[in-house]
Amino acid sequence: MKKLLLALTVAVCAISATAEAKESMTTIANRVIKIAVDHCKNMDKSLEPGRSPRYYGDGKFVDKNLEWWCSGFYPGTMWYLYEATGDEQILALARKHTEQLAPLQWYNKNHDIGFQIFCSYGNGYRLTGDKAYEKVISNACATLITRYNPTVGSIRSWDSRKWKYAVIVDNMMNLEMLMWRAKKARDKNLHHIAVTHANTTLRNHFREDFSSYHLLDYNPENGEVLIRQTVQGYADESRWARGQAWGLYGFTMMYRFTKDKAYLRQAQGIADMIISYLPKDGIPYWDFNAPDIPKALRDASAGAIIASALIELSEYSPEKRERYLSVAERQLRTLSSKRYLAPVGTNGNFILRHSVGHLPGNSEVDVALTYADYYFIEALMRWKSLK
Ligand code: GLY
Repeated sequence: MKKLLLALTVAVCAISATAEAKESMTTIANRVIKIAVDHCKNMDKSLEPGRSPRYYGDGKFVDKNLEWWCSGFYPGTMWYLYEATGDEQILALARKHTEQLAPLQWYNKNHDIGFQIFCSYGNGYRLTGDKAYEKVISNACATLITRYNPTVGSIRSWDSRKWKYAVIVDNMMNLEMLMWRAKKARDKNLHHIAVTHANTTLRNHFREDFSSYHLLDYNPENGEVLIRQTVQGYADESRWARGQAWGLYGFTMMYRFTKDKAYLRQAQGIADMIISYLPKDGIPYWDFNAPDIPKALRDASAGAIIASALIELSEYSPEKRERYLSVAERQLRTLSSKRYLAPVGTNGNFILRHSVGHLPGNSEVDVALTYADYYFIEALMRWKSLK
């Protein structure tokens, strides 16, 4: 009897695995979007005003104040879902969770304002043209550039006294807001700061193989690099997965705005390096050099960011288009499978499981995270609009 049950279970799993493999990408995107809408509507019910989702792990939902770097991702996800569905309830929730971030336009204690304001207000403006949203973005840009030091040629990431002038590779992501605003308002200063930051990052953060260090400490008096190290990765010389993902996304985005071939070469170099480290299912280990691979934890957030970036990069890389799209497709199929995609009513109402926030700090290890959800939905939207 036991043997029969086992055989039946194996057969059912095999059939459902085949069904998943055969699903078209359009069907997958539509299936995920439907589930994501329900997750987001349920998530709103578990949040008090002034709070944003942080993580779900070990059966526990944890929220956080709005200054937390992730507060723009939940409203940003809902803007994409509104774009996909036209669902008026999602629109109302996207507005509500965006507009409570208004005080952040003046928040200058770290670099994360780009993530927070551009994922929320940026997508909101793109879809509604609301002038009040544009003003918030403009103010947020003015706030962000107060952290720029022309001697270093970078925007400072963190103010901790552990470092003199800490800049992390993640900071490339905050440039999107500056580049967008620079173009819209023909603001040469914003453009100059964003391009200079990208050039400084390109010059100092990368190794020969296009992998990047997580954090550089600079001497703010003369711009000299004092330290190259990790904070969230396995080791200073290792390749922390999400850091590689931020670099890929950041330089792809910089090419979108500037058409500077140096950024395209950088993005393609990073992409090829990343692809060489991906396991078969496309979802990276949390650090490409984690010592316990293949048992090491995966990071769905890095997988989602990479997929989204590769889809955009494929549009600028005719000769590598098929390769980049096939990797992104593999990643999106895996993230849409039962292992990663959480059924409605589970997972603290986050969409994806199995991300890693800060393993060396023993924080957010193998949990659900809002930015995994945001870039996953963004990637599916990008896939849907591929020509
Ligand atoms: N930007 C912070 C992180 O990727 O964990």
